[in-house]
Amino acid sequence: MSIGKVMVAGAGIMGSGIAQVCIEHGISTLLVDISKERADKGAANIEHFLQRKIEKGRIKPEEKEAALKLLKTSGNYADGKDADIVVEAATENMEIKQKLFAQLDETVNENAILCTNTSSMSITQIAGAARHPERVVGTHFFMPVPAMRLLEIIPGILTSEKTVEKAMEFGQMIEKVTVKAPDTAGFLVNRIFEPMRNEAIYLVMEGNSPEDVDTAMKLGCNWPMGPLELADYTGLDTLLASMTRICEETGDPKYRPCPLLKKMVNAGMLGRKSGRGFYEYE
Ligand SMILES: NC(=O)c1ccc[n+]([C@@H]2O[C@H](COP(=O)([O-])OP(=O)(O)OC[C@H]3O[C@@H](n4cnc5c(N)ncnc54)[C@H](O)[C@@H]3O)[C@@H](O)[C@H]2O)c1
Repeated sequence: MSIGKVMVAGAGIMGSGIAQVCIEHGISTLLVDISKERADKGAANIEHFLQRKIEKGRIKPEEKEAALKLLKTSGNYADGKDADIVVEAATENMEIKQKLFAQLDETVNENAILCTNTSSMSITQIAGAARHPERVVGTHFFMPVPAMRLLEIIPGILTSEKTVEKAMEFGQMIEKVTVKAPDTAGFLVNRIFEPMRNEAIYLVMEGNSPEDVDTAMKLGCNWPMGPLELADYTGLDTLLASMTRICEETGDPKYRPCPLLKKMVNAGMLGRKSGRGFYEYE
């Protein structure tokens, strides 16, 4: 097995989900954020989700303990220099990601591959910040990471075949189904899915209630969650970043982010993570 240790950079919703899946599959994982405190917060979330799995009878307490033993946290990437794979799941911002990849490329051993979990940005552009772009690849996970089976693997223009193969191997190790996706805005899934959620927000802006829009899609299309519930769940800022990129890259006004989405993000209404979006959360 060529993957013994993973470093996850970014301990938010996605990073902690990715780290959880890794430790549940027996892989030593270092969870890193801008401070050790933030990384510890991510670890506390993992602990919470594993506890819930025990309560639902899905895992045994000893499995939780065994998984948590494989998890370490840090505020410093240098602690992960011996990792075989780095999965970056930091804030969706090109400047942050490029800085991070330039730094990771210098810090992590030369055999490691560097993956980004960006949902909307060009893998080729992120890789451009690294001295070795051939080892950079997109690994796009879906939320919630432990439950969603798909992993999109997105090669940039300079990504080597070896890097793609290692990313696929990683996907198999953590029991995800991998598909190769193009390095274009939205990759495969979001190119279809983000405009649908954006359209749902237009309907709210036009005076329809979020409850009606969500009920319509749940009962009319058999969706397990409504598009607005899902937008709240995954974060309105992430959706806005994604729509902005699809619109800019295609130059097609049909992808214009809904003005209400922009307003809500400007107001700090980011969905579940800020306590308020289309719905309110405790
Ligand atoms: N939320 C989703 O549904 C979803 C789905 C697929 C992909 N993504 C992508 O995953 C990434 C993370 O999204 P999220 O929803 O977990 O965001 P989040 O806001 O929950 O977490 C981002 C984390 O990154 C940390 N961070 C910022 N700069 C950093 C740096 N330089 N080094 C290390 N950590 C840093 C922040 O402190 C924060 O803890 C984004 O690129 C996003 O587009 C999100």
